[in-house]
Amino acid sequence: MRVWAVANQKGGVGKTTTSIALAGLLADAGKRVVVVDLDPHGSMTSYFGHDPDTLEHSCFDLFLQQGTVPDGLPRELLLQTSHERISLLPSSTALATLERQSPGQNGLGLVIAKSLAQLWQQFDHAIIDSPPLLGVLMVNALAASQQLVIPVQTEFLAVKGLERMVSTLAMINRSRKQALPYTIVPTLFDRRTQASLNTLKVLRNNYPENLWQAYIPVDTRLRDASRAGVTPSQYDANSRGVIAYRALLKHLLSQLPATQVA
Ligand SMILES: Nc1ncnc2c1ncn2[C@@H]1O[C@H](COP(=O)(O)OP(=O)(O)OP(=O)(O)O)[C@@H](O)[C@H]1O
Ligand SMILES: [Mg+2]
Repeated sequence: MRVWAVANQKGGVGKTTTSIALAGLLADAGKRVVVVDLDPHGSMTSYFGHDPDTLEHSCFDLFLQQGTVPDGLPRELLLQTSHERISLLPSSTALATLERQSPGQNGLGLVIAKSLAQLWQQFDHAIIDSPPLLGVLMVNALAASQQLVIPVQTEFLAVKGLERMVSTLAMINRSRKQALPYTIVPTLFDRRTQASLNTLKVLRNNYPENLWQAYIPVDTRLRDASRAGVTPSQYDANSRGVIAYRALLKHLLSQLPATQVA
C-alpha cells in the first residue's frame, strides 16, 4: 500500500478537494483506496454523505485504542463512498479534543501509521486529509505517509503558510528514519489575476525541486462535484480540474516513495 498525506497548515487551500480528486482517479484506474479524514471538521466525511457529528465510529476510536487493534480494524470503521473502490475512515467532532495536543507527551504520534498497517492487504493506496493545524493529528498524518502533497493556493498570503508547513516538516523529519518527500501543488490558479501569476513565479523561484511544475486551475466543476457528493472524475471526467489532477497523479506516481515507517 502506498500512503500519501495531503497537508498544509493554511485553511481553504484545496486539501480536501485534492485528497478526493486523487482518490477518485486512483479508484477509476482500478486501485482499492482508503481515504482517511483526520480533520475534526470532517469535510471529507460530509463530502461523502456521512455526518461527523453523529457517527458512532470514527478515527477517534483508533486513538482511544492507541492504534493497537489486534485482528484488523473493525469493519464498521470503514464507510462507503460514492465509489465502490473507495472506503472512508471517517472523522468525528470528537477528534477536536486531540487536535491541539502535542504528540510528544502522550505517545499518540503513530496511531494512524499502526492502524493503516492493518489495512495493508486490503488496499492499494491510502490518502490522508489533514486539519490545517499542527497538532497530534497532523503529526499522525505525516508519520503514517510515504509522500506528502502540499496544496498551496496561488494568492499572496500562501507563501508564508508554505514556509510554516515546510519548517513543520523539517521538525517532523528529525524523528523519521528517512525524510518525507513532498510535492508542492499550486491550487485555485486563475491566470487572469496578477496574484496567481506572481505566486506561481515565487514558488518556482523558491522551491524549484519540490514544486509540481503545472497547477490546478479554478474550476467550478470541482465545487459542483462536492455538492453532488461524488468524486470530481465521477462528476465530469473531462473538466479542467480533473485533467489537471490526472497530470498531478501521474507526477506523484512517478516519485519514489520513502519506505514506510511504522
Ligand atoms: N481548483 C478549485 N477550483 C474551484 N474551487 C475549488 C478548487 N479547489 C477547491 N475548491 C473549493 O474551495 C473550497 C476549499 O477547498 P477545500 O475544502 O478542498 O480546502 P481545504 O484546504 O481542505 O480547506 P480546510 O482547511 O477548511 O479543510 C471548497 O469549497 C472547494 O470546493
Ligand atoms: Mg479540508
